[in-house]
Amino acid sequence: MMFSFFSRKKNILQTGLLEGMADLHCHLLPGVDDGVQTEEEAATALRALSEMGVTSFYLTPHVMEDLPLNNRSFLEEAFGKWQAALPPGIRVKLAAEYMLDAAFASHLADGYLTIGNDRLVLVETSYLSPPPDLDGMLYDLTVNGYTPLIAHPERYVYMEREKYVSLKNYGYKFQLNLLSLAGFYGRLPLEKSRYLLKNGLYDYAGSDFHNLDKHRRGLAHLSLHASERKELRVLLDHNNEIFYK
Ligand SMILES: [Fe+2]
Repeated sequence: MMFSFFSRKKNILQTGLLEGMADLHCHLLPGVDDGVQTEEEAATALRALSEMGVTSFYLTPHVMEDLPLNNRSFLEEAFGKWQAALPPGIRVKLAAEYMLDAAFASHLADGYLTIGNDRLVLVETSYLSPPPDLDGMLYDLTVNGYTPLIAHPERYVYMEREKYVSLKNYGYKFQLNLLSLAGFYGRLPLEKSRYLLKNGLYDYAGSDFHNLDKHRRGLAHLSLHASERKELRVLLDHNNEIFYK
């Protein structure tokens, strides 16, 4: 009886974990990618998120070959205009989520938009297959003084266990996508996220927010054991350290 009491899962909305969370991954900058499309939609989303306790955000619009407008100066300008009209109590900073594609290296000249003072660059790959020179691209970032922060590593179906460990051994950082733990992206990302969390391989967590309906649906399915709540707390503390540093 005691055991079942302590092992009972709690929905994330009942855990207090979201209160004061600094989200390091979201697509809330309106109209620049497949995330939020209008200023009104962004305002509605920010209101709902702040009711859940999340008021600090790194905005991480997609930067990829398929979105040729999204370079540093375009995003900074869009961010500057939008930010000026935000309600008080919301804190936003601009970074980006870079696809490791053929255009990636071309953004070095402008300087990558980073998270925190540690020059973390949020990067992603296709879910199905790695770019031809994944290791080389990540290494080149470090040569230029950046640290790769790999977005939702659990979602890459091609990535084997040993690969996760070797990427961490190079000093690269991992960011959990919260909804992976809800099974929102299927069984494999769910199992991988549990494995990576349990083994202390994640450094940070993000919502990867794209739209409010999906986000709410995902959170409604996100129930956590006591051990997972503890592990997630550690990641969210890292988030806060980097956001407020
Ligand atoms: Fe994302």
